[in-house]
Amino acid sequence: MQTIPNCSPNLIVEAAQVLKDGHLVAFPTETVYGLGADATNKSAVNKIFLAKGRPKNHPLIVHISSMNRLYDWAVDIPEYAIKLANNFWPGPMTLILRRNPSVGDFITGGQSNVGLRVPDHHIAYQLLIEFEKLGGLGIAAPSANRFGSVSPTNIQAVQDELENYLTQFDLLLNGGQCDIGVESTIIDCTGNKPNILRPGSVTLDMVSNCTDLKIDSVIQLKTIRFPGGLSSHYAPQAKIVLDQLPQPGDGFLALAEIQTPFGCIRLASPTSANEFARVLYSSFRLADQKRIKKVIVIPPTDHGISVAIRDRLGKASAK
Ligand code: TXA
Ligand code: MG
Repeated sequence: MQTIPNCSPNLIVEAAQVLKDGHLVAFPTETVYGLGADATNKSAVNKIFLAKGRPKNHPLIVHISSMNRLYDWAVDIPEYAIKLANNFWPGPMTLILRRNPSVGDFITGGQSNVGLRVPDHHIAYQLLIEFEKLGGLGIAAPSANRFGSVSPTNIQAVQDELENYLTQFDLLLNGGQCDIGVESTIIDCTGNKPNILRPGSVTLDMVSNCTDLKIDSVIQLKTIRFPGGLSSHYAPQAKIVLDQLPQPGDGFLALAEIQTPFGCIRLASPTSANEFARVLYSSFRLADQKRIKKVIVIPPTDHGISVAIRDRLGKASAK
C-alpha cells in the first residue's frame, strides 16, 4: 500500500491505471473517504469486501463522473430521480435505482437495484475521468473503514483503518479533510416517490422541494439490505452516550456554546451544525486514541444536517 500525499494530475492517471489493473484505490470525496475498485471487475470488488471485512451480500455504491453515465447502470429511472440528479449532483446524494441487467450481483448483493452517486470532489472527479479514458464505467466504493467502524474523514484515518488489510499494489490518495464529514443521503428511487434510507446533508426538505412530492420522514427499510441500517454502526471503541450528565474523565462533544463540564475531556467545540458533522468522526477517533472509555455527546437539535448527525449518533450509541 502506498500513500500519495499530493495528487498531481499524473499521479491520478497512474491511480486510474491501478484501478483498471484490478487493485484498490482509496480516494477522498466531499463526504468521507471511499475505498474504490473497478465496479465491473468481480475479483477487484471482492478485494473491497476482504479489506473491509464486510459481508458479501451488502451492496456497494457505484461512483460515476456525471449523470450522463446513469444509463450505464440503471433502467426505468423515474422523473423525480432525474430532477434530484440534476439538482444535487455532483454532491452528497446516492440514488437507489433499478439496475441495468448488466450490473453484477457482486455490486448489488443480488438485489434488483443499484446505488449511484456523482461525488463533488476534484480528486474523485479526476480519478473517474481518467478511469473512463481507460474504458472504465464506474468505481465501486464504500467508506474506507473496516465494517461497522467509523468512516474516515482524513488520510491518517484511512491508514489506521486499512493498512493491515491492503496489498503493495493498492493506493491511498490524500485529499485532506473531507468537507462534509458524514456520508451521503441515500434515496430509494424504486417506488412512486423518493424514500430517504440514510439522512445526509441533502435533507428531506431539499428532496421534497426539488421533486414537489411529500416524503415520509419515517425511514422505512423495507426489504432493502442496508448495513448503515443496522442498529449498531459507525461506532468507535469508546461508549457513546447521548444527552447525559458526564462524570470527570469522560470525553465530551457538544456545540461550542455549551461549556465543558468539570473534569471532562473536550473532544471538539464546533460552532455550527455543519462543523459538528465535519468533526464528528475525528472526535470519535480522538477519543479512542486517548483511550477514553465513555463519550457524552450533546447533539445539535435543529433540522438540516443535524438529522444526519443524530442518525449516526443513534447508531454509534447502540453498541
Ligand atoms: O458518502 C458516501 O455515501 C460514501 C462515499 C465514499 O461515497 N460511501 C458510503 O458507502 O458511505 P458505504 O458502503 O459505507 O455505505 C453505503 C450504504 C450502505 O449501507 C449500502 O448498503 C447502501 O449504501 N447501498 C448501496 N447500494 C445499495 C443498494 N443497491 N440498495 C440499497 N442500499 C444500498
Ligand atoms: Mg460505510
